Amino acid sequence: MDDGDDGRHVSVERSTDTNITAKGRGVVDELVARANEVRVKAYAPYSGFAVGAAIEAADGRTVVGCNVENASFGLGVCAERAAVSAALAAGLVDWRRLVVVVDAAEPVAPCGACRQVLAEFCDELEVVLATTDGQRELTLLSELLPRRFGPGDMSGGSGA
Ligand code: THU
Repeated sequence: MDDGDDGRHVSVERSTDTNITAKGRGVVDELVARANEVRVKAYAPYSGFAVGAAIEAADGRTVVGCNVENASFGLGVCAERAAVSAALAAGLVDWRRLVVVVDAAEPVAPCGACRQVLAEFCDELEVVLATTDGQRELTLLSELLPRRFGPGDMSGGSGA
């Protein structure tokens, strides 16, 4: 993994935790811990599936989010989108890394809607999928959402 100074490093290997550099592992451990702390605050009475997310900004600051369900099921908000709202509310617009933590047999990746929302705000993002039992999977937003539709894709239209 390239843990370079530009804060926008994208040259990461798809890997297990053993391939994360020592420096990266410390940062990721901290993020996973923060995401897991907020995971237990999730409001998920309908699915029983609590998810925690943390976004690390390029300047090292972090924000967290958990899923919030509703009796009107379609109104539920995923942890990732809650973290996006928290990041914007904190004035963090340049993001380096997202961590998603679940208490499940395997890590889970953000849903399609969350991928699209994340892609609105960053060209690239390191995404760490983690479980409470210590599994880690490292991927990229560009891997999760290749050929995404982005803010720049509407230029040149007729406007009609
Ligand atoms: N959920 C998330 O918050 N993030 C994911 O990456 C997957 C799914 C939530 C939505 C819903 O509250 C529950 O998990 C079950 O789908």
